[in-house]
Amino acid sequence: MKNILVIGSTGQIGSELTTALRKQYGGNHVVAGYIPGAEPKGELAEGGPSAIADVTNGAQLADIVQRYDIDAIYNLAALLSVVAEQKPQLAWRIGIDGLWNVLEVAREHQCAVFTPSSIGSFGPNTPHELTPQDTIQRPKTIYGVSKVCTELLSDYYFTKYGVDTRSVRFPGLISYVTPPGGGTTDYAVDIFYAAVRGEKFLCPIAKGTRMDMMYMPDGLRAAMELMEANPDKLIHRNGFNVTAMSFPPEKIYAEIRKRCPDFKMEYQVDPLKQAIAESWPDSLDDTAAREEWGWRPEFGLATMTRDMLEKLTEKLKG
Ligand code: SER
Repeated sequence: MKNILVIGSTGQIGSELTTALRKQYGGNHVVAGYIPGAEPKGELAEGGPSAIADVTNGAQLADIVQRYDIDAIYNLAALLSVVAEQKPQLAWRIGIDGLWNVLEVAREHQCAVFTPSSIGSFGPNTPHELTPQDTIQRPKTIYGVSKVCTELLSDYYFTKYGVDTRSVRFPGLISYVTPPGGGTTDYAVDIFYAAVRGEKFLCPIAKGTRMDMMYMPDGLRAAMELMEANPDKLIHRNGFNVTAMSFPPEKIYAEIRKRCPDFKMEYQVDPLKQAIAESWPDSLDDTAAREEWGWRPEFGLATMTRDMLEKLTEKLKG
């Protein structure tokens, strides 16, 4: 990868991935793509070039790819699961019509493409415990439907046209930098804001409901390492199960209380979020990622919690 375009560079993943990519490949080699109203600021704006890159506008994407001689695209534009249920048509336009634009530009200009999939690509009749790499994917949300379609369309472009498409199925990503907007796993981020602010946390997910999670530094590494992996070793492409930890709300609450003993949590279950959470795996089997490109998470629940509390305390002070 010489020159990279990040579509959605100011979002939950993009805001950190763009900076990480610039560290690795050089600031001038990574274009921060954004939509009007979500302009890059601070380090993101100053660390390298930026351009309006609306995923629904194929001609605009083609222009950027030519202008900056792009050979790899991180396509991070998406609506998360809960907000997508409120705007299914928009979720499809961004997730699938947008992906089509990206893949077409990639085909014409020989770019590699990374488009995240998700634990949301699984559904109620997927085996929930140690969910295999290759298994039933019949999701009930529009988010999940678009992610399954993302995987299939990306594989199709690889098989038919040789476009170097790769992807991981991200679990809930936990970070202190950019908050997620409208996902089912958001509670695992929100709980830290409540703890650090000394507020009681109202948990929208019921006791005992486990979901896979990952600390953002591991998520960024997963995306970057997969794109650098030797293609000869890849049996799968779109997308790999990856995970770092799996827990129910009471377990992360207990972990936070080890450091914030006065912190209080009560359940106020949100029926939509709960239904979505119950349809997703309890724990993923990520053996294929480990074997095919050497995936290994660095953070578990205890190490992630310690780092989150330290960094968020620092951030909310400033
Ligand atoms: N974090 C996403 C969501 O909750 C799942 O990939 O929608």
